Amino acid sequence: MADGTHQAPVLELDDIQGTLLRQRPSPYTGTYFLLRVDDPADGRRMLQRLLPHVASAARWWDPPSRAWLSVALSHSGLRALGVPQASLDSFPDAFHEGMAARAERLGDTGESSPEHWDAPLGSRDVHIAVTLFAPDEAALEALLEVGRAALRDLPGVQMIYRLDASQLPTKRTHLGFVDGIGEPDIEGAGVASILQAGRDHYGYLPGFGPTIKAGEFVLGYENQLGRLTPIPQPDVLGRNGTYVAFRKLHLKVADFRRYLHDNASSPEEEELLAAKMIGRWPSGAPLVLAPDHDDPDLAVDPTRANDFIYHEQDPTGLRCPVGAHIRRMNPRDSLTDTIVDVRLHRALRRGTTYGPMLPEGQLEDDGAERGIVFIFMGADLVRQFEFLKTQWANDGDFVGLGTEKDPLIGDNDGTGMFTIPHRPVRRRLKQLPRFAVTKGGEYLFMPGIHALKWIAELAA
Ligand code: HEM
Repeated sequence: MADGTHQAPVLELDDIQGTLLRQRPSPYTGTYFLLRVDDPADGRRMLQRLLPHVASAARWWDPPSRAWLSVALSHSGLRALGVPQASLDSFPDAFHEGMAARAERLGDTGESSPEHWDAPLGSRDVHIAVTLFAPDEAALEALLEVGRAALRDLPGVQMIYRLDASQLPTKRTHLGFVDGIGEPDIEGAGVASILQAGRDHYGYLPGFGPTIKAGEFVLGYENQLGRLTPIPQPDVLGRNGTYVAFRKLHLKVADFRRYLHDNASSPEEEELLAAKMIGRWPSGAPLVLAPDHDDPDLAVDPTRANDFIYHEQDPTGLRCPVGAHIRRMNPRDSLTDTIVDVRLHRALRRGTTYGPMLPEGQLEDDGAERGIVFIFMGADLVRQFEFLKTQWANDGDFVGLGTEKDPLIGDNDGTGMFTIPHRPVRRRLKQLPRFAVTKGGEYLFMPGIHALKWIAELAA
């Protein structure tokens, strides 16, 4: 502005789907449905029925909005619903191609490659993803009834996949660690964007900055490059939408535990090694602030749990290794002396857990399916999600670690290494296997609510 002051953009919260700017409820229980549209008219009819129930990011404080239904579409789904060719052509290539086509660059090779994915994930049959989440079973059942009613008497829409996902009783991931703490602070989104669900803190939370331009996450607003991210056409379709990378990641919990067991001489050391790999203790307390042991009190204090930086507080990684998962995925001020602008590569995550817990202490796999539904949201799949995977997770050059990969999500193959800075000598963990196996995934477009209406009302 001319006087040098800056005004946050006014985000159209009532047009933006709730899950983009708001944390899911905690505890949560929910379901992902994938649908195939064989008849465009039936597909659009179903969207019309769902529309009144799609949660927006407005009125977040009202209790009912803590249960929500959201809708996203693949490129083949937009086509199947009758979106005109000129619109289809206006979407970026990565979205058009879909996640399976880009598997190799994402490190989805070997057991993670698309030929091993759960059908129909990664196929052109995945058209619409409907996600339902609620704080409890009763609220979820009410949403499920909305879903059933939307599908009634529409043979041209088939439910082809269902994945239930509920928060574990521990409120942690299967590896025993709290997740979902680090989130970007989005300009104009309102303080609730950084509210950790279930915690009663509604003010500014230190450590979540620097504030990121809304256009990094919502289409139609200025981004960190000072431009509008190109939006699919017509404007009514693109505005207030975002892209989603949906990934089903199976976690090899027994392998993870056994690897720690084999490389440590006590349970305390096992916990320390795992914390070094992730960058936080099981409770969520960050190693930069709690280098020697877990600190659950720190972890539950939203004003402290994320209030740290690396370059100033831990330049050589003696506390949090430079190759740790959270330091790679959000290097904060670590890359200050390089040309990389971390603000161009932030991730907005809305992941959930699926499958039963492996009993505490068990080192043998029980064959059960368990893991994370990793949900990334952002305006640029290539510059954000794919960059994180290719440059920061599956390579180590950016922090001087050569070919070392992320110890948790890197495409390691049993020859991987993880360096833990220590004095007088650093420690190196070797023969890292792959702990997270991709079981499927898709790139989706999550339109604004007006855009969904536009699609639902397209002429036959
Ligand atoms: C196997 C799947 C994964 C597991 C178990 C996992 C686990 C975790 C945990 C425990 C944290 C610490 C809590 C927090 O800071 O929020 C975390 C943070 C994070 N993870 Fe992951 N993660 C997984 C996959 C991914 C993937 C695929 C990406 C991106 C491509 C990613 C990006 C991030 C980011 C950006 C943070 C926050 C870092 C920060 O802001 O300090 N994660 N993850």
